[in-house]
Amino acid sequence: MVDSDLQPTDTAVIITDAPIECNAKQQKIDPWNVAGEVGADGKVKAIDYFKLVDEFGTKRITKEDLERFEKVTGHKPHRFMRRGIVFSHRDLNLILDRYEKGEPFFMYTGRGPSSDSMHIGHTVPFEFTKWLHNVLDVPLIIMLTDDEKYLFGKKTIEEVQSYTAGNAKDIIAVGFDPKKTFMFSDFDFMGGAFYQNTTRMAKHMTLNVVQAVFGFDNSSNVGKFHFAAIQGATSFASSFPHIFGDDASKTNLIPSLIPCAIDQDPYFRLTRDVASRLHFAKPSLIHARFLDALQGPGSKMSASDDKSAVFMKDTPGQIKKKINSFAFSGGQETVTLQRELGGNPDVDVAFQYLNFFMEDDKELERIRAAYKKGEMLTGELKAICIQYLTDYCVGFQERRAAVTDEVVKDFFATKPLECRGLTMAMKR
Ligand code: TRP
Repeated sequence: MVDSDLQPTDTAVIITDAPIECNAKQQKIDPWNVAGEVGADGKVKAIDYFKLVDEFGTKRITKEDLERFEKVTGHKPHRFMRRGIVFSHRDLNLILDRYEKGEPFFMYTGRGPSSDSMHIGHTVPFEFTKWLHNVLDVPLIIMLTDDEKYLFGKKTIEEVQSYTAGNAKDIIAVGFDPKKTFMFSDFDFMGGAFYQNTTRMAKHMTLNVVQAVFGFDNSSNVGKFHFAAIQGATSFASSFPHIFGDDASKTNLIPSLIPCAIDQDPYFRLTRDVASRLHFAKPSLIHARFLDALQGPGSKMSASDDKSAVFMKDTPGQIKKKINSFAFSGGQETVTLQRELGGNPDVDVAFQYLNFFMEDDKELERIRAAYKKGEMLTGELKAICIQYLTDYCVGFQERRAAVTDEVVKDFFATKPLECRGLTMAMKR
């Protein structure tokens, strides 16, 4: 059936992936807000990620899911998966089924280019994407939504466009492979098959539904409503004939796996609904939680607040100063009290960062136990954290310095990609 046979409905129903309405005092997570619930004491509480799973209608990643992942891919799940940092999904099983059978799929992620330099929180979904991409060895699409930044912000088109190359370099410095990755900016790439799919998406998105999903009102600009069609259309393999070929009867059935932070889920909830109507493969998702700001659980890293986060461009001296002076501590006021009562690693920012960045599970557990018992002091814990973050940022800075304009061009080239998964699939 062709999609023109399907008429858009104007009833605001999203059948399969419906979120449960959340009321105002509760935590608010969407592509533009990340805020925990406000407690009776007026303080913002830590985000309850499990509650989000219920509200959004996603699935928690279970122990069984991790076991299956390992069995199917032959790789121990990433520490983010083992530690509940990548904690939720939609239809990850279907992607593993395809991987098992050697059937094609691809990966898709993105970022809105901005003037702000990346902080460690921004790199979390990309670190995970890089790792998963190595494991799965399928084409990876990275979308740079310069149009989104224009529509939702105060910058001119020229300004947002001027950030694209720099942001691309930041992403590339995480460690992607140009032979297996296609990166594009919406302003440059829009047209052809991608625009056709954008328009297909748009035809099946009513005002009612977009309003219900994103909370726009009658005074929101229409570009915001339409943008969801663009972010959604990138989930479809048929948007990229230079990678997947132009036989739409095949490419429409190739699904994507989208690693993203949980706030992006509303876009893809909508996309999955439209995909069913278009008889396109629905994208699968794998969701990451956020890294807490230096001020502790419930606070939010902000690219415009230097004290809120460690930035990828920070020097070792700056990192040390930020962790020592600003990182919220779960330790006791004095050494004596710490030895006596122990600290609380669950709210301790230095420990939380180690939880994200330290690979060794046993060492992490040793630190957790020692800190809790008061055998380890806050200063000692912070020193370990500083070492890890310094290595992480310095490594990034070295790779970033090596990313030339030529390298960027290679990622943006509309060229075929060389992936094991794709070669297998195309031979069928
Ligand atoms: N909207 C995202 C942002 O503001 C960018 C984006 C586009 C994205 N497509 C995506 C992020 C897919 C994750 C997955 O940064």
